[in-house]
Amino acid sequence: MSVDVLLGLQWGDEGKGKIVDVLTPEYNVVARFQGGPNAGHTLEFEGIKHVLHTIPSGIFRKGITNIVGNGVVIDPVTLKKEIDALKKMNVDINATLYISRKAHIIIPTHRLLDAASESLKGKEKIGSTLRGIGPTYMDKTGRNGLRVGDIESSDFLNRYEKLKNKHLQLLGQMEFDQDLSQLEGPFFEGIELMRTLNFIDSEHFINKSIQSNKAILAEGAQGSLLDIDFGSYPFVTSSNTITAGACTGLGVAPKHIGKVFGIFKAYCTRVGSGPFPTELSDATGEELRKAGNEFGATTGRPRRCGWLDLPALKYSIMINGVTDLIMMKSDVLSGFKSIKVCTHYEINGEKLDYMPFDIVNETVTPIYIELPGWQKDLTGIVNEKDFPDELARYITYLEKELNVPISIVSVGPDRKQTIRRMDLVIN
Ligand code: GDP
Ligand code: IMO
Ligand code: MG
Repeated sequence: MSVDVLLGLQWGDEGKGKIVDVLTPEYNVVARFQGGPNAGHTLEFEGIKHVLHTIPSGIFRKGITNIVGNGVVIDPVTLKKEIDALKKMNVDINATLYISRKAHIIIPTHRLLDAASESLKGKEKIGSTLRGIGPTYMDKTGRNGLRVGDIESSDFLNRYEKLKNKHLQLLGQMEFDQDLSQLEGPFFEGIELMRTLNFIDSEHFINKSIQSNKAILAEGAQGSLLDIDFGSYPFVTSSNTITAGACTGLGVAPKHIGKVFGIFKAYCTRVGSGPFPTELSDATGEELRKAGNEFGATTGRPRRCGWLDLPALKYSIMINGVTDLIMMKSDVLSGFKSIKVCTHYEINGEKLDYMPFDIVNETVTPIYIELPGWQKDLTGIVNEKDFPDELARYITYLEKELNVPISIVSVGPDRKQTIRRMDLVIN
C-alpha cells in the first residue's frame, strides 16, 4: 500500500491534529515526518482537549502504530511532558509509540541559541516559537547533530558535551546571558525516559509496512507557507513541510506516495512575523480571532487573522500535489454578512494570480471578490444537505477555483464535528 500524506496548506494551525485523529481508524500506522515541538496539534473528543507537540496525532486510537520519523527534531523535555500526560490518560505508549534512531535531539543550548539569534535580529525577528528548532536543524545540516540512536551509545555523554561546548562558544560570542544549569536537569530526565521507549530504524519499519499492505498516514507539521524552500523566506521554519518532506522525513520513495490531504482554514491565520497579504488589522480581524479562538496551541500568542488567499492556496496545492482538500473552521465564518476571498495580488501596479518570488519586501495589495456570508450556526450539522446555501456556494466556488475536491468540511473542534462530503478511498 502507499503512504498518504496530510499537511497544512497555509501558515500552520490549520487543524492537522484534529483530522489526523479523525482519519486514524482507517490506517495502521501514523508517522510524523518533520518539525518538532514548535508544533501544537489539538485534538478534542469526549469533552477533553489534548495538545500534542512531538507525538503523532494517531496516539489516542487503539491498535495503531505511531512513529516519530527521522525528519523530526525531538526535545526530550517536551516529549517527557507529553508522555506523562498520555500515561495519565492510560495510553499505552510502550505498545504504540516508536521513535526513529535518526531523529535529531534538541539539547538545552539549542534553545538558548534560538533565543540569542532571535534577540540579535531585533525588529527583523522571525517570531520563532523559541523551541530550538532552527539551531537543531542547523546542526543537522552542519553535520554536528546528536541523534536518538546516540542515546544507545556508551559515548553519548561525550557527544552531548562536545556539542554543548561548541554552542557555549557561540553563545559567548553573542554575549548572551545564559542559564544552562536549570535546563540540564529536566533534559537528562527526558533522556532517561527516552531510554525506556522503542527506538527503531523507522525507514525499514515503514517500508516493510508498505510491503505488507499496511495503510500509512504521514502527518505534517507547520504549513506549506512556512516551508524552508517555498515559504515566505526568511520568515519560515527550518524544515520541508511539504509532501516531499514526507519522503525525506520517513525514508519513503516518491512512488509510494498516495493521497495528499491538504488542510486549510476557511480563512487565514499566521502566528509570528512575516508577510501576510490578506491580514486584517481591523475590527473584522479581531472578530475572526475571537470567533475562531485564534491563540497559539504552543505559545498562546494571538494569531494574526485575515481572509482566504487563493494565490497562496493554489501555490501550496501545486507544490504538494494535493489530491483532496479539507476545509476547517467553517463554523467560525457564521455570522459574517459577507466573506471576502483574495483572488489576485497587485504588486507594482501589476495584477498577479500566483505567488511571486518576493512578498516580503514588495507591497502586496490583495484584490478580493465578495461572497454572501451565512448566519446559520454550523456546529451541530452532521450532513452536508443541511449546509446553508451560502456555504454550499462558498465550497463550489473554491472547488472551481482550486480544481481539487473539498472532501471534508470541519464545523467545530470535536472529532464528531466533521462532515465527509465524499468517500475517501484510502490507498
Ligand atoms: P494544527 O497545528 O494544524 O493541528 O492546529 P492547532 O491545533 O494548532 O489549531 C487548530 C485549532 O482549531 C485548535 O484549537 C482546534 O481545536 C480548533 N479546530 C479545529 N477544527 C476546528 C473547526 O472546524 N472549528 C473550530 N471552531 N475549531 C476547530
Ligand atoms: P503547527 O504544526 C504555526 C512559526 C513560528 C514562526 C516560524 C518559525 O502547530 O501548525 P520556529 O519555531 O520553527 O523557529 O518558528 O514558524 N511556526 C508555526 N506557526 N503553527 C506551527 O506548527 C508553527 N511552527 C512554527 O510562529 O513564525
Ligand atoms: Mg498548531
